[in-house]
Order: sequence, then structure tokens, then C-alpha cells
Amino acid sequence: MDIFNKIKSSMGPLGQYIREIDDYIAFPKLEGEISTKMKFKGKECLVWSLNNYLGLANHPEVRKADSDAAAKWGMAYPMGARMMSGQTKYHQQLEKEFADFEQKEAAFLLNFGYQGMVSIIDSLLDRKDVVVYDAQAHACIIDGLRMHIGKRFVYPHNDIQKCEQMLEKATKIVEQTGGGILVITEGVFGMSGDQGKLKEIVNLKKKFNFRFLIDDAHGLGTMGKTGMGTGEEQGVQDGIDIYFATFAKSMAGIGAFVASDKYVVDYLRYNMRSQTYAKSLPMPMVIGALKRLELLKSHPEYKEKLYTIVNALQSGLRERGFNIGNTQSPVTPVYLSGEVAEAHNIAVDLRENYGIFCSIVGYPVVPKGVIIIRLIPTAIHTLEDVKFTLDAFSEVKGKLDNKYYLTNFVKHGLV
Ligand SMILES: Cc1ncc(COP(=O)(O)O)c(C=O)c1O
Repeated sequence: MDIFNKIKSSMGPLGQYIREIDDYIAFPKLEGEISTKMKFKGKECLVWSLNNYLGLANHPEVRKADSDAAAKWGMAYPMGARMMSGQTKYHQQLEKEFADFEQKEAAFLLNFGYQGMVSIIDSLLDRKDVVVYDAQAHACIIDGLRMHIGKRFVYPHNDIQKCEQMLEKATKIVEQTGGGILVITEGVFGMSGDQGKLKEIVNLKKKFNFRFLIDDAHGLGTMGKTGMGTGEEQGVQDGIDIYFATFAKSMAGIGAFVASDKYVVDYLRYNMRSQTYAKSLPMPMVIGALKRLELLKSHPEYKEKLYTIVNALQSGLRERGFNIGNTQSPVTPVYLSGEVAEAHNIAVDLRENYGIFCSIVGYPVVPKGVIIIRLIPTAIHTLEDVKFTLDAFSEVKGKLDNKYYLTNFVKHGLV
């Protein structure tokens, strides 16, 4: 049997819609400078789908730092993995600055958040250890756990009572195996925008013996007084044993880091396969990240501006009767009821007729009958952008309620 045969008959849960969604909903091309106004299929759109929370992606100082570093070092430098020939003082400086910022003893740079998290989990755990994790954990956590050959227990999203029950089960198992327990959750959940219950979980340390790892991809730069993250926001940074965040959101770059006690970071430096067997982050990414971190720390007004937009958008949506769930962060999901075809048609209508570009998810990413339009406010949006979007959403909701997207809507040429 040719393994390609099965691909011909089944393209996978999302791939089955390739003809309907490719080059439009999936793999769309946004063109022009990264901003709140970009071109989609030749038309200017107001963009609400970039995780450019603090507006650093196209910040002149960031652009200059990136291009100066590329001109000076090229993209190849340094050659080799960190452990072999890819070490530089700039990589070490960035690690020191992240460690200080996160109030941890040490930090280690990772080439990608996704791979980094998979590898952290893989390197920390053995068959005797047990993991307790949130059901809505990001794919990088789930995929890391696929490599774990010991037991794991999932608890329903943010359900601390169930988390406690899982800790009881885990404790019984490690008493037999002699292993340890790792609890994993997120600082801010990227789809729903609610925060992980870090405080409650840290509190469970009084009853159970475990280590706590968080993925704070959406919390770094957006949460806490100084932007340190969700640990700072909830006053429990000390109780987080391993802090992880990516550069893909507020840092508007590529790469990630993990911060912890020095002996833990030393262990990770020598044992994480994603770093040992992969080339070091190129110099422009590292020098560019130093500049981004400097701006993140020294310009609290970017975060303030972000929240002016967040508050206007979220309160405006609520006032107009939209269900935005329990978001406690800039991530703004708008929950609607409808079928996949309706979700698709809403996206088309918003893009073609209102000039609004946002991400839409329907089944199979979320349960059948649920549509989520996810908006990501940033520090560079304006209150006029918010007003324009609220008006458009009210019209779209009216059409959805009247079944317009099932019956009258003239589908885009793709479908
Ligand atoms: C919660 C979370 N963790 C990890 C990642 C992966 O990070 P990266 O894009 O750096 O691979 C993302 C997405 O970027 C994310 O949203």
C-alpha cells in the first residue's frame, strides 16, 4: 500500500475543506507594511488578527535594530547549535535580561516556541513522572505530552476542583513509581482569552508536591504591571517553577525562552533535543529581541494604549449584546451560533463588504454549531477602528440572526 493513497482519500480535519478555504480563510496573503491597515486581495482592510499587541512589529527602532544587525552579521551567524559552535555573548545577554525581567535565576533561548515547549516537556519527564494539565492547553503542550511515556491526567479547562482530583490521582501514582508531578497550564489562553488559574494552582502546592510550568505566550508584555506576564498579574511569579514564553506575540519576532532556577536551566541547556540538535537563533533575531525587550520594559505607555483599545472594544461588544465569554486579556473572542458555511460567509462578508480582516474558526476547531470570530487589539489600533468594527459587527449579527448567511448570501467565488 502506497502511504500517499490515504492522503488522496482523506486530507485531514481541516484539509478536507481545502477547496473552500485555501488562499482565503486558510493561508490568506496580507500584503503591505505590518500595520492595522493592510491589503487583502488588493483591497485595504482593517486587520484584527495579528498578535502584535504592543505594536512593535513595525516600530522604527525595531526595524532599525533588525536591519542593522542583518547588515552587520548576516542571517547565518552564528553557525551551528549553541552547544557546539553557535554561542555568542548576545545570546547570553538576552538570556540574562529575560531571567532578570522574569525574576528567575536563569533563562535559555529557544528557536521556536512550539518546538521549545515540546522539548522542555520531553527532556524533563521520564516514565515515572505524572503530568496534570488543562484540557485547553496549546498544541505545543499536547504534542510534548505525546512524547511522555508516563501517566498524564487532564482536567476540564480551568476547573480547579478537578485539577485537585487529578493531583490526588497523580500523587498516588508517583508514590508507587518514585517519580514527580508536573502541572502545566497557560498564562492566557489564546482562543478564549481567559487567564489560567495560576494563583489557585500555586495554592495547591500547600497540599501537593508538584512543579509548575506555564506557557505565557499571550501574557508576556500584556499582563502584570511591568508586562512580566500572568504570574505578575496574579502575584504568583515565585510559585511558577518554569516560565515559558514565545517571541511570536508581544515581542513581534521569532524565538522563545524558558526561565527557571539555574540548575534547571543548566539541565535544559544540556538536554533539550530541540536546541542541541538545531542551529542557534540567528544574530538579527537575538539583537532584534534585545531591542524589543528594551522597548517593552521602557515604554509602559504601549501597554496602556493597548488596554485603551481592549477596553473600548470589549465593552462596546458587550454593550451591543455580543457574547465575548470570560476573556481577561486583550484576546477578544466573539461567540456566535452557526454552521461552518455561515462562518465562512461571515468572514467573506467582513472582508469583502466591510474591509475587516479577522480570524474566524468553526467546526472542527471548535464544537459543531459554534463560530468564533477572534479579534486581537493592539496598541496601534485607534478608537475610530473600534467604532467602525462595532458598527460592522452589529450589522453582521443581524444578518446571522436572520439566516442571511445560509440563504441569501452570494458566496464568494471560491465556494
Ligand atoms: C500558547 C502558545 N504557545 C506556543 C506557541 C508557539 O510559539 P511559536 O510561534 O514561537 O512556535 C503559540 C503560538 O505562537 C502559542 O499561542
